[in-house]
Amino acid sequence: MRMRISELLTGKLEHRRCTVSGWVRSLRASREVAFIVLNDGSNQSGIQVVAGRELDNFDAICRINTGAALRVEGTLLPSPAAGQAWELVAASIQIVGTADESYPLQKKRHSFEYLRSIAHLRPRTNTFGAVFRLRSRLAQAIHRFFAEKNFLYVHTPIITASDCEGAGELFRVTTLDAAAPPMISGQADFNQDFFGQPTGLTVSGQLEGELFALAFSDIYTFGPTFRAENSNTARHASEFWMIEPEMAFADLADDADLAEEFIRYLCRFALEECAEDMAFFDKQIEKGLLERIRGVAEAGFARMDYSEAIDRLQKSNVTFTYPVEWGLDLQTEHERYLSEQVVGGPVFILNYPRDIKAFYMRRNEDGRTVAAMDLLVPKVGEIIGGSQREERLDVLESRMTELGIAREPLWWYLDSRRWGSCPHAGFGLGFERLVMYLSGMDNIRDVIPFPRTPRHAEF
Ligand code: 4AD
Ligand code: MG
Repeated sequence: MRMRISELLTGKLEHRRCTVSGWVRSLRASREVAFIVLNDGSNQSGIQVVAGRELDNFDAICRINTGAALRVEGTLLPSPAAGQAWELVAASIQIVGTADESYPLQKKRHSFEYLRSIAHLRPRTNTFGAVFRLRSRLAQAIHRFFAEKNFLYVHTPIITASDCEGAGELFRVTTLDAAAPPMISGQADFNQDFFGQPTGLTVSGQLEGELFALAFSDIYTFGPTFRAENSNTARHASEFWMIEPEMAFADLADDADLAEEFIRYLCRFALEECAEDMAFFDKQIEKGLLERIRGVAEAGFARMDYSEAIDRLQKSNVTFTYPVEWGLDLQTEHERYLSEQVVGGPVFILNYPRDIKAFYMRRNEDGRTVAAMDLLVPKVGEIIGGSQREERLDVLESRMTELGIAREPLWWYLDSRRWGSCPHAGFGLGFERLVMYLSGMDNIRDVIPFPRTPRHAEF
């Protein structure tokens, strides 16, 4: 029976007969003995396999290359040499799949940019092994967090007819012939399309999430979202994953409290349960990472009104590329300045001007701001966007009229304000930005298995 290498390294199997399978990371051979580092993806280090001349295929083993797949049966012993605690002394080695010298992942260190061009192989490297183990464990931790709090997990639709954020970034979903769609008064006739109306890939599960919050009180979604946003930055992907909790009978302060508890929980989780990979990131990717994440896990997050943030930016004497003025949105450079220089840690910016935020956000008493919040963190900038929702039907309807948003297609959303409406709030956490934040990786393309960005969807 195949065991995982991480299991062997717990130390509970000393002197036991074990079988592992994995891929060769390196091989050193002499006339008498060969040392093979075998990795099966279950941990960072892999295990050292010791193959002696008495093995009947010893010569063949000495000729294998990095990247080959092996099955090893042997005895687990404390390693007499430095560098590893355990080694597997092989009784038999089966060469399952060979690899030749053209295997691209040889010993030398490759740039992340090059590794992106071989995204089908990069999971076999140390860095991407660590990234994707962390990503997987975090996804599990997220479900655990909400399960412990009795939130309902809801699967909101991927194909949708509504543009939740109203930013016009919907990817179209259609079965019409792109070259010759049926036409009606000079336009494509979506009546004849698959769904009988224009549809696209969702930019957010929020609107449907709200409907479930108004039945189950506390819910969350965790799924892929899609944005046809033509921005080629290190923080934007066209396909990314988002976690969106929504709470009934909750206001903006409750929303920020949940977001803070959530992020701190995930920081602690990463430190405690992904220790080997986090130590790797601290050493290889960002010096001081562990210190930074520990700080976030331990201290409360700052909260600052948008108006104060503008004030701070204007008084900063820093020359920003983008203008700073009350009423304008914050750009990444502003967000990073606020969290890195002003606060030195995560900070919630609250109550943004209504004109730069989505239609569903709750209007504040002052009439010019809405109960919105963004959580900004060093390095990444915005990691969470959320708000208290407009639960007053008349206010919501008049806001939609102002923005020219048709009510008819959102009749079901408006219905939720007609019967049993209540204050409610939620937020969206970009999963890739979380992984960037916790790993220290600088580019969103390096924390998602097969990134989709403008002009890139190959693998
Ligand atoms: O701020 P956003 O657009 O908020 C919403 O979509 C709300 N409906 C969420 C809610 O209240 N339920 O997006 C939320 C988060 C951002 O803070 C960011 O972390 C991430 O999603 N995000 C992206 N991540 C990667 N690539 C992109 N193009 C992203 N756009 C947003
Ligand atoms: Mg946002």
